[in-house]
Amino acid sequence: MYKIAIVPGDGTGTEVIREAVKVLDVVAQKHKFTCEKTNYDLGGERYLKTGDLLPESVMKELSGMNAILLGAVGHPGVKPGILEHGILLKLRFALELYINLRPVKLFPGVDCPLKDKGPKDIDFVIIRENNECVYIGAGGSIYKGTNNEVAIQEMVYTWRGVERCLRYAFEFTRKRNLRKKLTLCAKTNVIQAHELWQRVYNDIAKEYPDITQDYAHVDATCMWMVKNPEAFDVIVTPNMFGDIITDLGAIIQGGMGIAAGGNINPKGVSMFEPIGGSAPKYAGQNIINPLAAICAAQMMLEYLGETKAARDIENAVAWVTLEKVRNLGAGKMGYGTSQVGDLVIEHIRKN
Ligand code: IPM
Ligand code: MN
Repeated sequence: MYKIAIVPGDGTGTEVIREAVKVLDVVAQKHKFTCEKTNYDLGGERYLKTGDLLPESVMKELSGMNAILLGAVGHPGVKPGILEHGILLKLRFALELYINLRPVKLFPGVDCPLKDKGPKDIDFVIIRENNECVYIGAGGSIYKGTNNEVAIQEMVYTWRGVERCLRYAFEFTRKRNLRKKLTLCAKTNVIQAHELWQRVYNDIAKEYPDITQDYAHVDATCMWMVKNPEAFDVIVTPNMFGDIITDLGAIIQGGMGIAAGGNINPKGVSMFEPIGGSAPKYAGQNIINPLAAICAAQMMLEYLGETKAARDIENAVAWVTLEKVRNLGAGKMGYGTSQVGDLVIEHIRKN
């Protein structure tokens, strides 16, 4: 039995999580495990009503779960940054979810914006460090509003933070056992602090002679992701660059409709989410694509060790993209949000 926290959040988050939970229930029944689900109403609505972001009591309960399934936070009535810092980033930091795992996989049938590239070419994983870099919040400004204004945001890395991320990445690349290549994506020609990343990478690489070493500056990484995505197997990168290149990754795999990610603490509770955000303009219309949230549930099961159930979901999603939903965009799928969830379930039940 697994204790799962369900945090639908804002906007379309509630609609896509409803479908992901539907799918989760079906595979749990089929593969004979149970998920004890607890719902949490964290997000913009609650914040506007009560001023609560992430109360201590909730934080405590969440830390006792096996995993968290999150929809999205972001509300048009709340100033940008408040929910992001108060909920999403707080969870990533407080629970030490130091790995952000983002597979970039083009499913069969999906329209790819890259000419002449197919599912064989686009199948790599980005491992984004998730607890350091400019995200730690060491910044601010003085003399605001004057022409003496100075604004600073520090890019902070610790040996411990870099080492555990790189170690995870090497181990992941070995276990994935595909091209066995780990690309470090940084900016060592400009950012002095990235020398720490390169040095620790080189040290750990000695323990992994089976892994091909590789390095690309972040700007070149963007170019290669478009030009030769097939050259990548696993990319490991600091937090800020990871944020940027994973959105590029999402688009080459068909868009936010299918992109999922895991915020992982390898020794603790981990959180899984579709990476597309709360998309307020599509909310409440049953037109948003739930496949990203369903893929997040798939990643969660993989993480929990329910490999067969995870494979069932992956196969079902591949069937849906190949046979049913080719355009993954909101309102363009030819099916409603809940119908897409039903299609996934139909395939799981039949196979
Ligand atoms: C993401 C998001 C977040 C980030 C925002 C919402 C704070 O863009 O998960 O990629 O920057 O990490
Ligand atoms: Mn992002």
